[in-house]
Amino acid sequence: MITDVIRKEIQKTFKAVFDWQPTDISITNPEPQFGDFSVSCHQYAQELKLSPQAIAQKLADAVASDGSMRAHAVAGHLNISVDAGVLAKDVLSDVINQDRHYGESTTNTQKILLEYSSPNTNKPLHLGHVRNNVLGMSLAQLLASQGAQVIKTQIINDRGIHIIKSMLAYQKWGHGHTPEEAGEKGDHFVGKFYVMFEREFEREWQVFLKDNPEVPGLSKEDAAKRRQEFFGESEIGAQAQEMLRKWESSDKDVMALWKQMNEWVYSGFYETYQELGSTFDKDYFESNTYLLGKKIIDEGIKKGVFYEEGGALWADLTDVGLDKKLVQRSDGTSVYVTQDFGLAVARQKEFGFDGMVYVVGHEQEYHFKVLFAILKKLGYAWASQLHHLSYGLVFLPEGKMKSREGKVVDADTIIAEVTSLAAEEVKKRFPELTDVEILERAETIGTGALKFFLLRVTPTQSIHFNPKEAIAFEGSTGPYVQYAHARITSILSEETPLEIGNIHFDRLNTPEEKTLVLKLLQYVDVISGAAEHYNPSAVCNYLIELSHNFNTFYHEHSVLKAESEELKHSRLLLISAVRIVLRNGLSLLNIKAPEKM
Ligand code: ARG
Repeated sequence: MITDVIRKEIQKTFKAVFDWQPTDISITNPEPQFGDFSVSCHQYAQELKLSPQAIAQKLADAVASDGSMRAHAVAGHLNISVDAGVLAKDVLSDVINQDRHYGESTTNTQKILLEYSSPNTNKPLHLGHVRNNVLGMSLAQLLASQGAQVIKTQIINDRGIHIIKSMLAYQKWGHGHTPEEAGEKGDHFVGKFYVMFEREFEREWQVFLKDNPEVPGLSKEDAAKRRQEFFGESEIGAQAQEMLRKWESSDKDVMALWKQMNEWVYSGFYETYQELGSTFDKDYFESNTYLLGKKIIDEGIKKGVFYEEGGALWADLTDVGLDKKLVQRSDGTSVYVTQDFGLAVARQKEFGFDGMVYVVGHEQEYHFKVLFAILKKLGYAWASQLHHLSYGLVFLPEGKMKSREGKVVDADTIIAEVTSLAAEEVKKRFPELTDVEILERAETIGTGALKFFLLRVTPTQSIHFNPKEAIAFEGSTGPYVQYAHARITSILSEETPLEIGNIHFDRLNTPEEKTLVLKLLQYVDVISGAAEHYNPSAVCNYLIELSHNFNTFYHEHSVLKAESEELKHSRLLLISAVRIVLRNGLSLLNIKAPEKM
């Protein structure tokens, strides 16, 4: 790669001029009028006891100028310009020869266990899960592109009062029907009964309020507490608690119903995962893992990490700036964090990972701080290699994605909405297509638009999801990038494949061409940075810029009608390389690169 050549050249020059050299040299791309590459000399001033400009000047004077490379010192920067043809040959050959592998590296070959999605089984996936899934899948691709062996997992919360609520409501009002009979997806079917339960409980609560007029006058917290207490007093709540006890003692009928309803949910999840392109190497189920933490408890007591107080067990985390944390209640039951460290240890035994990344919403930031701190105190070497990829909320134009009644906008509805918007657009452009063809293209564009919209902002930022804006063919959108890919495909389709040996790279010498070539070179650093910082949005921004650079080029210059055959072929090669990088970048985001749209 040309940047490696330049880096080596500069190191050699440092050594020759100063008898000293920096361990690494970071190269940036300056504004075009200053050159193609730039190295700031400010950080060397102290070491060399010279001004940055003096350093830059000495280096510029000494850099070997073989005619293809020119160096000048400006404001403490060593700026380097490379002959357009030399640059194009180097970069385009790399892209064309490495093709699908262009941009990949083997700098981080760790085994990384990645957890994402991790839903509860009482309702369908919602828009927040969609963000989680697209982040998780993209991260898996990014880490793998840098050489990591990635194991994708989810932990499904299949037990507890939430699924019991659905089960009880189904027993009462389900008439033994199946989702097929109801013509519904399994997860929606089960979710409906959860809502029925909540409605019935609310009805009982309202009756209670009528008889207890003082309750609405209580403070907000006290009223909420009273409502929680009322759960066990209400008829339906008491029945749910009874059913949970039966589940805990493995009552045969309750177990059978539990398995059946979870199966329905999984088949529904699976369909949504297919739409999103989400896959997992290993599914964990909380019903199998929630007791694992107990095994660690004894170990923690021996190591002095946990102590007893009032019959309960605690971890003292005050020395690392966190509150003390309950890890086992006085009745012997465990809490969320206990289950999570049990799971982490089990995963380590199973996979021997080097590091683990949890994709989980920002409301659990404190939980993961506590979890990681406890694992460190327990003395696990890998505990320093755990990362919580936290992400912000997704809002809809009308407000939050969760309405007061607990009605969440589910993932399937969102996917259907963007797909139908895309279908309208496709129909407008290609009235001659059949419905099947329209749907096929609309799915690619719709889910691509959705994913891109959710990935283009940094994970920690919240998002206001707007389907119309996401699907627009102009702007910082998925369809904008996909369209650049389709456009290049259609230009190339009229031509026979190119022989790289016959290309006149020196013809690619206009500013627009050089900008494109430099942009293609940047891809390598962009994706390694995106992987290092767990940040797919860097790839999105890059792809927008690349598409924009391509459109500017294509607006200024003809390809098929170029002045000469030589120039035409050079440009065809250039845009083939752009197409490869667009496709590779989109695939890191799990977005399809359409041939036509
Ligand atoms: N199911 C949980 C929830 O919906 C998320 C689980 C996150 N993963 C974990 N290992 N704690 O809140």
